[in-house]
Amino acid sequence: MPDPVGDALELVTAWAGRPVTATVIKGGLSHHIARLDSADGERWILRVLDPRIAATGLGIPLEQEIDNTVRAASTGVGARVVRVLPGAVLLEYIEGTTLDGPAVGSMIGEIAAACRRLHAGPRFVNDFSIFRKLGELRELCRSRGLAPPPGYDDVTPVAADIEAALARRPLPSVPCHNDLLAENLIATREGVRIVDYQLSGNNDPCFELGDIAAEADFDPGQVARLTRAYFGDDELLPRVRLNLIMSNLTWTLWFVVHQGLVRDRAHPDFDYTAEAADKFAQAVRDVEDPAFGRLIDLAGGRTPRTS
Ligand SMILES: Nc1ncnc2c1ncn2[C@@H]1O[C@H](COP(=O)(O)OP(=O)(O)O)[C@@H](O)[C@H]1O
Ligand SMILES: [Mg+2]
Repeated sequence: MPDPVGDALELVTAWAGRPVTATVIKGGLSHHIARLDSADGERWILRVLDPRIAATGLGIPLEQEIDNTVRAASTGVGARVVRVLPGAVLLEYIEGTTLDGPAVGSMIGEIAAACRRLHAGPRFVNDFSIFRKLGELRELCRSRGLAPPPGYDDVTPVAADIEAALARRPLPSVPCHNDLLAENLIATREGVRIVDYQLSGNNDPCFELGDIAAEADFDPGQVARLTRAYFGDDELLPRVRLNLIMSNLTWTLWFVVHQGLVRDRAHPDFDYTAEAADKFAQAVRDVEDPAFGRLIDLAGGRTPRTS
């Protein structure tokens, strides 16, 4: 039976020159993560990458993830890369508290500051488009016979409308994380740090904000506060709200694919199918909202339609 964590641990022990104990962290949904402690009090994070995550498009290729992690670390926001091992990476252990949904809502200013710092840093080695990712995951569902939640195909044409509206006033891309759920944010005394560059790539900063809002179930007031905290005003709020919809629509399929193709790595306490249904229901709610057409007009720089 292959034991990728044990193999990586042996390499770390040889490198450290002293015994190291591993404590598995169950928080993550994809890879094998462990906290490592040496007897003399040093501590690291070992991230052993499951190659199926990149192979199924649930994450970027491993070399890209590692290169981007090094770049994110150079801004002070990401964890420092201590050592790159075959199929694994040893990271600085960040002392702090991993956030949960409500904590994200109460730390909007700090999270916006961390994003600005990351986005002002060196560009990542790859580009990322949520529209291409949606297409990729849909194709994968089709070719592998995985069923999205009922009604999914009736709703997805709105993605083309959103893409066309956003393309009318394009924004320069910046190095984005693209997966800012609470568990990838760690509050420390020096500010919020960001881990897990599995889906990172240069992208529209409004996707980063919309994705944070979608993952933390923000109400419209919180979405506006996040937009203001990042940009200084809320001119781009319609763009952030359309990206929020794209996050829910696309990550619905992330859970469908994870459930279908890497089930054995699934977190035992996590219901991937229920999560897919929940994200899809939120996308439907926003697309069926009478204000949706107005968002499309405003984001594309057109005079909003009246109804
Ligand atoms: N460098 C780090 N320092 C401290 N804790 C970390 C670090 N990296 C990850 N963690 C913790 O481990 C959890 C899972 O790690 P993560 O890299 O997000 O894995 P996954 O790709 O499986 O989501 C995080 O939610 C966080 O609590
Ligand atoms: Mg994570």
